Amino acid sequence: MARRALIIGITGQDGSYLAELLLELGYDVVGMVRRSSTVNFERIAHIQDRLTLVPGDLLDEASIVEVLRSHRPEEVYNLGAQSFVQTSWGQPVLTGEVTALGVTRVLDAIRMTDPEIRFYQASSSEMFGKVQQVPQTEATPFYPRSPYGVAKVYGHWITVNYRESYGLHASSGILFNHESPRRGLEFVTRKVTHGAARVALGLVDHVSLGNLDAQRDWGYAADFVWVMWRMLQQDQPGDYVVATGETHSVAELCELAFSAAGLDWRDHVRIDPRFIRPAEVDLLVGDPAKAERELGWERTLDFAGLVETMVKADLAALEAQR
Ligand code: NAP
Ligand code: GDD
Repeated sequence: MARRALIIGITGQDGSYLAELLLELGYDVVGMVRRSSTVNFERIAHIQDRLTLVPGDLLDEASIVEVLRSHRPEEVYNLGAQSFVQTSWGQPVLTGEVTALGVTRVLDAIRMTDPEIRFYQASSSEMFGKVQQVPQTEATPFYPRSPYGVAKVYGHWITVNYRESYGLHASSGILFNHESPRRGLEFVTRKVTHGAARVALGLVDHVSLGNLDAQRDWGYAADFVWVMWRMLQQDQPGDYVVATGETHSVAELCELAFSAAGLDWRDHVRIDPRFIRPAEVDLLVGDPAKAERELGWERTLDFAGLVETMVKADLAALEAQR
C-alpha cells in the first residue's frame, strides 16, 4: 500500500515542489489548506487532481487533529508559516501564533493521535540572525533579528523538545534561502527577476529595493525539498543545516538578473527606505557538511543558473500574458 504524507503549507513554494516529489515517489499526498475568499492553488494546479486537499489551519488545533484522524498520514511536513520577514514586524502576534505556536499545535496533534508519525519542521537560517559564527552549523548559537526569526527559534526548540520529551521522530531542517520561479513576488530574488523581466519588456523602468549589501546563501527550492524527505527516512531524527555554502549580495543578484535580461542593473534599481528593515540579517552562509554526509545532500543548480532560470521564467510568463 502506498505511504501517505500530509503537507501543511502545500500551496506555498516549497509545498508545491514537495508534493511533486512525493507523488513521484508513489505517496498518497494529502495537503492541508486554509480557507480563503478566493482559491489560491496556482502552484499546485498542475497536480491538483492527484492530491487530496483538506481544510485546516495552524491556528486551529482541532482542525489539525481532525486531518490526522481522518487521513492517518505516516509522515507530516510542516511547511506552513507566515514566512515573510518584513511582515513579521507589522504582524508580530500573528507571526508568533502561526509560525511558533502552530508547530506546537501540530506536534500535540501528532502526540495525541499517532506518535509513530514522522515529523518535519521547516526551520530557518533566519534563526542565526546576527551571526555568531561564519559559516553557520547545527552548533552555531541562534540570535534572531525579527519576530519571524524569534518564532522560528521557538518552532525549532519545541520540535527538539517533543522529540526528547515524547520520543517523536521529529526533525528540524535549518534551511537557508531557497528560491525558484514559484517564489512569492515579495521576496527579493523574485522581486528582482520579475522586475528585470518587466523592465526588459518595457512595462516599468525601475525596481525599488532596500539594502543591497545584505548577503544570503541562496539555493534552488526543488533541491531542498528532497532533503526534507530524506530526513524522515533516517532511522533517527535530527537537526540539519541545508545550504549551498556560498554567499552573494543583493547587488550581485541585481547584476546577474538584469544582465540575463540584457540590461545594466545600475540604470534600473532605486533605493527606497520603505524596504529597509528595522533590524537586518547582514550575512548568512551555511556549512551543510552534516547534511552532505548523512543525507547525501547536493545542489543541482548554482546561483547564476538559478537567477537565469528565474529571469527566463518571468520573461516567458509575462510574454504569454501580452
Ligand atoms: P510560502 O511560499 O510563504 O508558503 C507558506 C505556506 O504556509 C502557504 O501554503 C500558506 O498558505 C501556509 N500558511 C500560512 N499561514 C497558515 C496557517 N495559518 N495555517 C495553515 N497554513 C498556513 O513559504 P515557502 O517559501 O514555501 O517556505 C516553506 C516553509 O519553510 C515556511 O515555514 C518558511 O518559513 C520556511 N523556510 C523557507 C525558506 C525559504 O527560503 N523559502 C527558508 C527557510 C525556511 P496560503 O497559501 O494560504 O497563504
Ligand atoms: N524582500 C525584500 N524586498 N528584501 C530586500 C529588498 C526588497 O525590496 N531589498 C533588499 N532586501 C534584502 C532584505 O533586507 C534581506 O536582507 C534580503 O534582501 C533577503 O530578503 P528576503 O528575500 O525577503 O528573504 P529573507 O532572507 O528575509 O527571508 C527568507 O529566507 C529565510 C531563510 O533565511 C524567507 O524565505 C524566510 O521565510 C526564510 O526563513
